[in-house]
Amino acid sequence: MPNENSLTANHLTNGTEPLTNVNQLILDSVAEGIYGIDLDAKVIFWNKAAERLTGYHISDFRYHNLHELIHHTDPHGKHVPLHHCPVYHALNSGESMFVKDDIFWHKSGSSFPVEYTVQPIMVDGHHAGSVITFRDMTEKLKTDEIIQQWEKLSVVGQMAAGIAHEIRNPITTLKGFLKLMHAKNEYNPEYYQIMDSEFDRIESIIQELLTFSKPQSSYYENHDIKELVQQVVQLMQPQAIFKNISINTAWDESTLPIWCIEHQLKQVFINLIKNAIEALDDGGEIRIDVVVQEGEAVIRVKDNGLGIPPEVLAKMGEPFYSTKEKGTGLGLMVTFNIIRNNHNGHIYVESKTNEGTTFTIKLPLENVNTSR
Ligand SMILES: Nc1ncnc2c1ncn2[C@@H]1O[C@H](COP(=O)(O)OP(=O)(O)OP(=O)(O)O)[C@@H](O)[C@H]1O
Ligand SMILES: [Mg+2]
Repeated sequence: MPNENSLTANHLTNGTEPLTNVNQLILDSVAEGIYGIDLDAKVIFWNKAAERLTGYHISDFRYHNLHELIHHTDPHGKHVPLHHCPVYHALNSGESMFVKDDIFWHKSGSSFPVEYTVQPIMVDGHHAGSVITFRDMTEKLKTDEIIQQWEKLSVVGQMAAGIAHEIRNPITTLKGFLKLMHAKNEYNPEYYQIMDSEFDRIESIIQELLTFSKPQSSYYENHDIKELVQQVVQLMQPQAIFKNISINTAWDESTLPIWCIEHQLKQVFINLIKNAIEALDDGGEIRIDVVVQEGEAVIRVKDNGLGIPPEVLAKMGEPFYSTKEKGTGLGLMVTFNIIRNNHNGHIYVESKTNEGTTFTIKLPLENVNTSR
């Protein structure tokens, strides 16, 4: 049984009947606009928030249809006939409905974005009308836009720093080869080839930065992971030689195809080998093993350098975290992102202070028979 403060059929069949004071007080204390319509689409209650948001008073609907006052035109400027209005559709079908990305019109002639729900009003088991609850989304949309803009700027910032970092590596390689050629005082066609391809890399990286708004596609292709590692080792060799470090590799002969973005995986090995070189004082060894385990290529980059204390281990991969005077602290962040997010792989690190560090990367092996 409805009590005396409940909506009654009487309220719904007779639009002039006011709500009880208690019900009107409750409705008026709510921030959302709330109104009710009977089965003839006549407004039977209208709260204070609805009045504030639309500028209309309930008496304005005595001679005017509510739809034609607040909901006549859609966000694209097209007239919305009554029979296309979701509120009336829900009213006729007795269904609940949630509508977003719509607009309502203020008495002043301006519109505002809304989100609303339509719920059937049931009286004694009979459908007697609908209650519509609407929210002004202006502030929410503004906040969303600010967040999106902020996110974009933060990604641009991270990209720029990451790319600056990527350019630094080939420049270091170029410097190494220049020094080697200078020390030997002879032209070496092999060095020339490597230097030339490093200039190409710098060029393509700069191109990537310039076209950030329309990012250049980085193509996924099948590459033998051992070949990529081998090429990187060749690139890093000059830096290692200058520090009296040997880079040793071990793998068997079979091809290990990985579906990957070549320059990104190379970047990973450059970052890990560079860290290993920096962790080794004069002299030392970097070992790189590639094996197959459970359908995955497992690549280990191991150094016998100074190791990583637990407090550094906990922070590794955080942007800008570096214990080095000239480190940007982006190498591992970029590395983790490339392996985990772009190549569906895993990366782990084990380390003991003064004994050394091993980075283990696992990448899914591409089935050579799979057609892409
Ligand atoms: N093989 C390693 N041995 C010892 N410490 C390491 C090793 N690899 C990484 N670290 C530690 O992790 C930190 C973060 O490494 P990361 O590569 O992200 O930045 P970075 O090397 O300091 O700077 P850069 O941006 O030039 O790479 C390093 O500063 C270092 O303390
Ligand atoms: Mg580094």
